[in-house]
Amino acid sequence: MPPLRIVQVSDTHLSRTHAYFQDNWDVFVDCMAEEKPDFVFVTGDICLNGPKHPEDLLFARTQMDRLPVPWRAIPGNHDIGDTPPDTRLKGPITKPRRAAYRTAFGDDYWVQDLSGWRFIGLNAQLMESGLPGEAAQWAMLLDALQDAEARRCVLLIHKPLYTKSVTERGCSLQALWPKSRKRVLALCEKYKVKLVASGHRHCYRSLRRGDTRLVWAPATSFIDTRKPKDGLRLTRRVGYIRYFFDGATVKHEFVEPPLFVNTDMRNWMAAHKSTTKLPPRPLRR
Ligand SMILES: [Fe+2]
Ligand SMILES: [Fe+2]
Repeated sequence: MPPLRIVQVSDTHLSRTHAYFQDNWDVFVDCMAEEKPDFVFVTGDICLNGPKHPEDLLFARTQMDRLPVPWRAIPGNHDIGDTPPDTRLKGPITKPRRAAYRTAFGDDYWVQDLSGWRFIGLNAQLMESGLPGEAAQWAMLLDALQDAEARRCVLLIHKPLYTKSVTERGCSLQALWPKSRKRVLALCEKYKVKLVASGHRHCYRSLRRGDTRLVWAPATSFIDTRKPKDGLRLTRRVGYIRYFFDGATVKHEFVEPPLFVNTDMRNWMAAHKSTTKLPPRPLRR
């Protein structure tokens, strides 16, 4: 089978009314026109504030449709709301918010088979939400792994499985919660998942857990340099990930296009506390 060239882009945070991050997105669309990967996966936080402003979701969809190659997306907390009670942004995932996301982007979890590989998109925020779709998503994941046959499997999920350690305790909104983490990791081990590709943290990181490569994709939108000494080896730059799937192997590289600008949220946070509270800055075209 021919090698597969895949791009993962994440945390684009697009909005027509708060167009702070449009420039890097425009550059990214040009990059895709030039390199023409076989497929682009968008790993969440596609828009700036879907839970409060559903029109952000529809605008982000129009932006994804500018991509000159096939693409598919999974939701992030800024698209669909976070795991309840969403102690940070106070906009938890609900049935209507999930429905609004699905109206804009289609299914919030799915299976995409490409040339000998099975890519499984997951809705991280649905896990431990108590919503009706939660059990159905776990069933889909198990079925997709069991029925993969000779295909090698990749999971795409907005949040990383953990931040510092698989045994870390507590329910941080930075990563999957312990119960879901344990469940996903057990499935990765049992079904020899080759790669878990996540976003959410706005930095690049690559690590390994058993036979599974864990990749944190950078954002195209902004970086956060407020905690430079959290003990992790992270690349706090904007960019995207380019993957090469060949036979049974997957390689990847962090890409920072020369025309990308690194916007650091540090200055805003002192005054506004959250990117969702930034004043309007409409797209002027
Ligand atoms: Fe984000
Ligand atoms: Fe996020």
